[in-house]
Amino acid sequence: MSKSDELLSLKGRTALITAGASGIGRAAALLFAAHGAHVIVADIDAARCEETVAEIGRQGGSGEAHAVDLGDQQALDAFLDSVQAGHEVLDVLFNHAGITGPPGLDFDAESWRACMTLNTWVPMVMTQQLLPSLRRSQAASIIFTASTAGIVGVPGLPVYAASKGAVIQFMKSVALTLAPEGIRANAICPGGTDTAGLRAAFQEGTIESSLAAISAMVPLGRLADPLDIAKAALFLAADTSRYMTGTVIPVDGGATVGARS
Ligand SMILES: NC(=O)c1ccc[n+]([C@@H]2O[C@H](COP(=O)([O-])OP(=O)(O)OC[C@H]3O[C@@H](n4cnc5c(N)ncnc54)[C@H](O)[C@@H]3O)[C@@H](O)[C@H]2O)c1
Repeated sequence: MSKSDELLSLKGRTALITAGASGIGRAAALLFAAHGAHVIVADIDAARCEETVAEIGRQGGSGEAHAVDLGDQQALDAFLDSVQAGHEVLDVLFNHAGITGPPGLDFDAESWRACMTLNTWVPMVMTQQLLPSLRRSQAASIIFTASTAGIVGVPGLPVYAASKGAVIQFMKSVALTLAPEGIRANAICPGGTDTAGLRAAFQEGTIESSLAAISAMVPLGRLADPLDIAKAALFLAADTSRYMTGTVIPVDGGATVGARS
């Protein structure tokens, strides 16, 4: 590890990443492992979960795969039990899983609940249930993936935006609640990031033009790469950010800064 990498070292630490088998979560799993963490990868996609952990192994890191539908309360409870049984100490909890949810105002109780469950309930209950393990860490860091949609108005995604706004406010209160114990909590707000999840939001045949249209609205002129977001998560996980808690960090190429002319 070079001197600059030491600043971001997670050597000897255990990190849990939800939705760690694809896109941003996968990039973070590989990056955290490359910086020394043992990474618990949780994802509903069993095959991709195993593949991510295999890739961590090929790169000389350490990880374990947990195939779990986090939106299923029984499965979530069983997963939390197994994490607690297997790991006395948890140093990094990266609450990353989330879905876009129903488009526009076209929601009903079921689609609302599915979005709110994964985006809001799951990070809340994971933080609550894993707190004893985080308390045993000397450097606990909780990271939430919110979204630029949680800080500025975006058209077409009111339920998603509400779920991410809730995550941000939850994080701020957790940060203040746990600060006396030295446990940190921060949120990342990615802008448009080129992942399978973003591509799936557009109809076949319009994907590239839609991504180009989003890129054109970004001051830095492109979508984020998953690694752009994962690097911000690594910064929040490591001691380099040890005096930061309660922060909301847009990683969006300047998209939420303000007027451009
Ligand atoms: N990609 C973007 O443009 C963007 C922008 C802002 C915020 N985000 C946030 O990033 C997160 C998603 O990351 P991504 O873009 O890398 O997505 P992605 O589509 O690449 O990956 C999503 C992962 O979540 C997993 N997953 C879905 N439902 C699950 C469930 N019920 N239980 C467990 N795992 C489940 C999938 O299997 C997949 O591996 C979400 O919280 C999303 O709101 C993404």
